[in-house]
Amino acid sequence: HQFHKGVKHLCEKGITEVPKKYILPVLERPNAGKDDGIFSNNDHNLMLPVIDFAQLQGSNRVQALHSLSKACEEYGFFQLINHGISSEVTSRMVQEGRKFFELPFEERSKYMSKDMFSPARYGTSFNQNKDRVFCWRDFLKLGCHPLSENLPFWPSSPSELREAAVNYSEQTKFLYMMLVEATLESLGLVGNTKSGNENESYLKEFEDGSQIIVVNCYPSCPEPDLTLGMPSHSDYGFLTLLLQDELVKGLQIQHRGRWVTVEPIPNSFVVNVGDHLEIFSNGRYKSVLHRVLVNPSQSRISIASLHSLPFSCAIRPSPKLINDANRKRYKDTDFASFMEYITACEHKNKNFLESRK
Ligand code: SIN
Ligand code: FE2
Repeated sequence: HQFHKGVKHLCEKGITEVPKKYILPVLERPNAGKDDGIFSNNDHNLMLPVIDFAQLQGSNRVQALHSLSKACEEYGFFQLINHGISSEVTSRMVQEGRKFFELPFEERSKYMSKDMFSPARYGTSFNQNKDRVFCWRDFLKLGCHPLSENLPFWPSSPSELREAAVNYSEQTKFLYMMLVEATLESLGLVGNTKSGNENESYLKEFEDGSQIIVVNCYPSCPEPDLTLGMPSHSDYGFLTLLLQDELVKGLQIQHRGRWVTVEPIPNSFVVNVGDHLEIFSNGRYKSVLHRVLVNPSQSRISIASLHSLPFSCAIRPSPKLINDANRKRYKDTDFASFMEYITACEHKNKNFLESRK
């Protein structure tokens, strides 16, 4: 099996057309459906619901929890402001990630691997082993849990990448845990009315979950209407914390039957519900399809911190949310089946989730 060298490499060769391998069938292109009436207003941007983390942790918690649950039900996405992670930590992560993609191809290619569980993996497209048409994206994935076992395998160049990624992963993990607590409270599973022990044992399980940091690099593209930076997909984990490029937009989510572009807000995280949380909440919170557009003049960087349940954990609706009025809507499954699904499916829809119902 041959590794493809990726889009950064193509661009460095100075291409002026999108190679065949990257040209999507007409119906899957970014503008498909735009002129047939359904998508007549396709270009509009969307302000996602904004959740103020400071209010969530302060005296306005009840109100903020209400907004959070509405956002997870209606959009599957929200933007988190005042999250407490310093812009130094986030901008260093972006900067070192960007530097990695600027290294000579030979240096980057040391991290190419087919092993999904590799602690550091450089690659291209969405799922190189499966994609019939490639997408306009290169990535670096860093496994973060447990940190001490993964860190020695992370790229040693650029020289400050490891330090930046350690800080970034620790702080995003901390923030994730706060968001898990808020999410569970918004579902009525933890909170003041429950005993301290009950709350703690619940959260402990999440603490052990896996964390992967993905640095996405979308170079500018000579023919952006023919391809996508990332095809339509939902995230498989519990929650994703995404640092969007502050200047270059590209992320689109499916909302009320159409694709809408998410306006970047500086110093915020885009947070989205993953498949694990959709199942855990018994379908109340939605894992929403999203994709990435590319553009002709600017490259774009994004950094996703993907958080999921522990590998040993059953993936199933929380038993406490099931009763006569709210019947169980998903079958129990496990992490291994999920990973199989990710490697085997095209992931353009939520067929797997549907099949678990
Ligand atoms: C993703 O869906 O994981 C990446 C989104 C983005 O690059 O904005
Ligand atoms: Fe995603």
